[in-house]
Amino acid sequence: MKFFLDTANIDEIREAAETGLIDGVTTNPSLVAKEKRPFEDIVKEICQIVKGPTSAEVIATDYKAMMPEAEKLAKISEHVVIKVPLTRDGLRACKTLREQKIPVNVTLCFSANQALLAAKAGATYISPFIGRLDDIGQEGMALISEIADLYASQGFSTQILAASIRHTEHIRQAALLGAQVATMPYKVFEQLYHHPLTDSGLQRFLADWKKTQA
Ligand code: E4P
Repeated sequence: MKFFLDTANIDEIREAAETGLIDGVTTNPSLVAKEKRPFEDIVKEICQIVKGPTSAEVIATDYKAMMPEAEKLAKISEHVVIKVPLTRDGLRACKTLREQKIPVNVTLCFSANQALLAAKAGATYISPFIGRLDDIGQEGMALISEIADLYASQGFSTQILAASIRHTEHIRQAALLGAQVATMPYKVFEQLYHHPLTDSGLQRFLADWKKTQA
């Protein structure tokens, strides 16, 4: 499973990238708005740090306006992946961008039928939002499972990018179900390392070692 960081914060991206375990980054307009810096500067800097797929979302909602916006973003770096919403215009833009060999992440996916449309439009990644489905009392993980079955049975190569991840359990389950990518907040990435028995075990090893040095 590839690990993407779901943030536009450069400090978090630098910290996480140091581990060598981060394969890419996803941003969205809400994450970018928190940084109070020009969008294109942020995207450029992320691509220089991570050197892996970096999703940058178009703001326009109609096809004609989306295309120049997407083409401008794609010129920032070879690592830029254009993020489009799962709408009629978004999928039309996806199809055109893929014909130009530009990678596309189709975002805001909440149903298997939407994922089917995105795959038919040639999406590189489909982003089902697990946490937001959980938030309204539906089982987000069931959607990952359904899309994985659907893509396998139809032979689609679109990668499942598990998004809107709230905790480490989401990552474990999405990995078991075969999602190729998980995008996670920095906090969740850090939590993946931790287990109380690792901490107490290490403390005991170090204390015992100290005794041998007396
Ligand atoms: C994915 O690319 C989105 O940026 C993200 O996962 C949305 O998550 P949220 O529901 O926590 O805002």
